[in-house]
Amino acid sequence: MSDTTQRTQWSSSLGFIIACVGSAVGLGNIWKFPYIAYENGGGAFVTIYLLAIFLVGFPIIVAEMVLGRHAKLNSYGTFKKLSKDNKFWKAVGLLCIFSATAILSFYSVVAGWTLDYFWNSLVGNFSTMTFENSGERFGSFVGNGYKQVFYHTLFMIFTAFIVLKGTKGIEKAVKILLPVLGALVLFIAGVSFYNYGASETFSFMFHFDFSTITKHGVLEAVGHAFFTLSLGLGCMIVYGSYLPSNVSIVRAGIWITILDTLIAVLACFMMYPIIFGTKMEVNESAAILFTTLSVQFNSLPGGNIIAALFYLLVAFAALSSTISLLEPVVSFIDETYNIPRKKGTLIGSLLVWFIGVICALGNGASDFFSHLALMDKLDYITSNWTLPVGGMLIALFAGFFVSKKDIQAEFSQAELTKFYPLWNICIRYISPAFVLIVILYKLGVF
Ligand code: TRP
Repeated sequence: MSDTTQRTQWSSSLGFIIACVGSAVGLGNIWKFPYIAYENGGGAFVTIYLLAIFLVGFPIIVAEMVLGRHAKLNSYGTFKKLSKDNKFWKAVGLLCIFSATAILSFYSVVAGWTLDYFWNSLVGNFSTMTFENSGERFGSFVGNGYKQVFYHTLFMIFTAFIVLKGTKGIEKAVKILLPVLGALVLFIAGVSFYNYGASETFSFMFHFDFSTITKHGVLEAVGHAFFTLSLGLGCMIVYGSYLPSNVSIVRAGIWITILDTLIAVLACFMMYPIIFGTKMEVNESAAILFTTLSVQFNSLPGGNIIAALFYLLVAFAALSSTISLLEPVVSFIDETYNIPRKKGTLIGSLLVWFIGVICALGNGASDFFSHLALMDKLDYITSNWTLPVGGMLIALFAGFFVSKKDIQAEFSQAELTKFYPLWNICIRYISPAFVLIVILYKLGVF
């Protein structure tokens, strides 16, 4: 399908924004952000994260979409075409494909956890759960590698199916489900505040003690800014490549950034009051989404239905993210090797599924796989290293290597005067410098 004129396009500008918000909002917001912000002590970490979102993330979203719409190819193809076959940039393109494959492998396993919690909430298995035993229940679930293989397999089947059938269906679903998820998160945050009070949560989130921040924390904040906005592996390059030329990239970028940040912060407000209010021991913080919340649902009338709805919506949010991770891999296979989309989807999904199985089995199924701890390793390497480095290189590529004329062609006249000059400074200097400083700091250069 290398004939670029045949590429499918988003149904509308709104459809595109929704698909991108669907990609951005996912487990990163609802599962990961609350626990890493909690581990890193709140306020100061959140400040660095917000700085990274607005100074680095937002300019790079725009850059990725500009590159993708201009080249009309997958991330590898975009680097290859716009650099005129330069070896270094082609390697960066391959790094992008590696990141997508690696992230999707473990992401789908965690997404599978939400299916288990959906099912068990629905059938009422959690009605006797207490704050004391919720951790045990979670522990025994994540210690069961085979169960996770089952749910991971299910999740990959859904993902592959949608990538194969095209995005129209998911656009429609996300348009309805994401607002419902947002409303439900808001509602649960309200219940948490009502039941447990908000003061400790606020003082935690607005407590700017920078001495609590470690080198690793700084890197994690920046890495997560990339992760949550789906940046650094060309996901937005691919989505942008399907974008009609009359849609404003800047406007899309603003919406994605704001909505994504809002959901992440709300997710903390939903969970922290419970942790603080009940003096809950959070010994495995990756479990916050599953332990703190599932008990509170029992205090509500029809709680198991609300819980089931909540985990189902989280699963949907994860699904609109997993399709955006599989798409770069499939379009790469499709466009690089001229393999038909059906076969490409099968190859890409099987590869990801296989790596995911190793991740899942690492969670307690056998000593060998546990020792390998592939899930933690892939999460660490991608979130903290390949995404920020990939993102920094994407910024430099758009800022210095692609001709100015090509880049400017993707902005409207009004944007060229009002937005472009500032964006150009960010993408050339501020964003790359920010990432570089963080990396050097982590490496102990200063
Ligand atoms: N942003 C998604 C989340 O927060 C995950 C994700 C989807 C992603 N596509 C991506 C992360 C591309 C990095 C790159 O859950």
